[in-house]
Amino acid sequence: MNLGPLHLKHLTISPPLFCAPLAGVSHSAFRRLVADFGGYGALCTEMLLGKALLNENVGATPFTKRRTKEGIVWYQLALNGSEDIPAIMGRLDTVQPAAIDLNAGCPAPEMERQGTGVSLFEDAARFERVVRALRQAWPGILTVKCRLWKSENGWQPEFLRRLAIMENCGADAVTVHPRFFGEKLKRRARWDLFEWICRHTGMPVIANGDIGFASDIEQNAEAFAPVSGFMIGRQAVVRPWIFQEIAARLWGGPAIESVDYAAVWQKYFDYVNIDFQPQRAIGRVKEFSKYYACNFFFGHQLRTAVQKAPTLDAAHEAAMAFLSAHPKTVERPAVAGL
Ligand SMILES: Cc1cc2nc3c(=O)[nH]c(=O)nc-3n(C[C@H](O)[C@H](O)[C@H](O)COP(=O)(O)O)c2cc1C
Repeated sequence: MNLGPLHLKHLTISPPLFCAPLAGVSHSAFRRLVADFGGYGALCTEMLLGKALLNENVGATPFTKRRTKEGIVWYQLALNGSEDIPAIMGRLDTVQPAAIDLNAGCPAPEMERQGTGVSLFEDAARFERVVRALRQAWPGILTVKCRLWKSENGWQPEFLRRLAIMENCGADAVTVHPRFFGEKLKRRARWDLFEWICRHTGMPVIANGDIGFASDIEQNAEAFAPVSGFMIGRQAVVRPWIFQEIAARLWGGPAIESVDYAAVWQKYFDYVNIDFQPQRAIGRVKEFSKYYACNFFFGHQLRTAVQKAPTLDAAHEAAMAFLSAHPKTVERPAVAGL
């Protein structure tokens, strides 16, 4: 298995472990928390709507803000091809992205309605226009994140055509979440397809989907053998220390001693309150707690109590009541269904 660093243009991503773009989650406060633990090679912003960026105070909002401690940060864009891409890239100059990722895999109905995500991926001509325009406007590292295709029926030729478009337009790498559009996050990601995917492209492939433990990588070494990197989403929200944990096991990084679950939640709460206005912060606390609750045997109690809380103070009180009682943790938190 290739566990070496990922070299893209001038950049070395070591270890080749990415924290996924997660709308509503991978904002500046969450990235700050993950950065406290380290162990990753790069973090991603949540998807940023190209048009919205033109009116945003880039670098000051929690979606676009980046702290030095975060290290390498990928900025992910959701585009439909009608945007002024050079203007958008001009706006991003302020934050000097380490790389730009194009979202071609989001199946959320709202994104599809706007012509972004899987809608862009489906329309080969429009997809090509956007990747080419990005390539022309941005000389740095450019990646694309995608799924397989709409459905199993005849997916291979369509997928290969999209890979060829990325490659011909000069994309530097592709992240594949091997599920079909309509599957959302159901069934299992098809890790066994990575060998076929990697065989059909010269671009480095970053594997994503259902990876949550070092043992997932170790025990599926054959399936992951040809990939150049790993991207983790939901399990990083459950365990923001996951990259340190995996890096310690696979790359010999510093081991994690023990986790103080209440202290981690408290830190997240504090960071969110620094970066968000109170009316926005509560939603972010609820979203994080939904995943964090997976760490515990009776996690539904934490999840429900925080979801029901009408104010930030009430959410804090409910979470602390649960977490300060040293609740029993599960060995392998599961995110299926979330
Ligand atoms: C709450 C949530 C928000 C997401 N937002 C994005 C996004 O902004 N951009 C994107 O490309 N994928 C997004 N995804 C998909 C993830 O990046 C990732 O591909 C998916 O969760 C599978 O990886 P995992 O099994 O490690 O979570 C999102 C997923 C979740 C659960």
